[in-house]
Amino acid sequence: MPDPAIDKDRPPEEKPMDHPLVDRAFIGSLVRDFYGRVRSDPRLGPIFAAAIRDDWEPHLEKMTDFWCAVILKNGAYSGRPVPAHLKLKQVREDDFDIWLGYFRQTAESRCPPKVAAVFIERAERIAQSLKLAMFFRLEGPGASAA
Ligand code: HEM
Repeated sequence: MPDPAIDKDRPPEEKPMDHPLVDRAFIGSLVRDFYGRVRSDPRLGPIFAAAIRDDWEPHLEKMTDFWCAVILKNGAYSGRPVPAHLKLKQVREDDFDIWLGYFRQTAESRCPPKVAAVFIERAERIAQSLKLAMFFRLEGPGASAA
């Protein structure tokens, strides 16, 4: 049983979402809808097809766990997203805008506005940290003395 005093002091992004609609089944169908859109995109579709081939079910289950962990804070996911993306050499920084565009569309079409806003804000923050891990280089005067 969570201690309400502790919960009250946690910042909103660390609290599990408490909404009657949002459970694992709801998150699972959002994930499936989202990856359906991504797979038919001419730029992102082939990147996913090359990595995942025809075995989508494990990826969809893993992504459902991931989003349950992010939104419901249930510890369902324990993978490492950064290395999984670092090995995707075809991905460009602006591909994240395409990804986020579909994510926004999906969340807005399936969720009440306040719920969509939480999913979108989390996705944007995680996308930002993945982009930093994948593309950040110290460039500029003095950065590359060699
Ligand atoms: C252009 C943007 C992106 C592309 C092309 C992309 C592509 C992929 C691909 C192909 C995989 C499967 C890797 C594999 O199994 O070998 C993967 C895994 C994953 N992606 Fe992305 N991704 C993108 C953005 C994001 C964002 C923004 C998030 C989170 C909000 C995310 C979360 C994950 C997670 C959690 C995994 C599973 C990692 C693991 O534990 O194996 N991805 N992604």
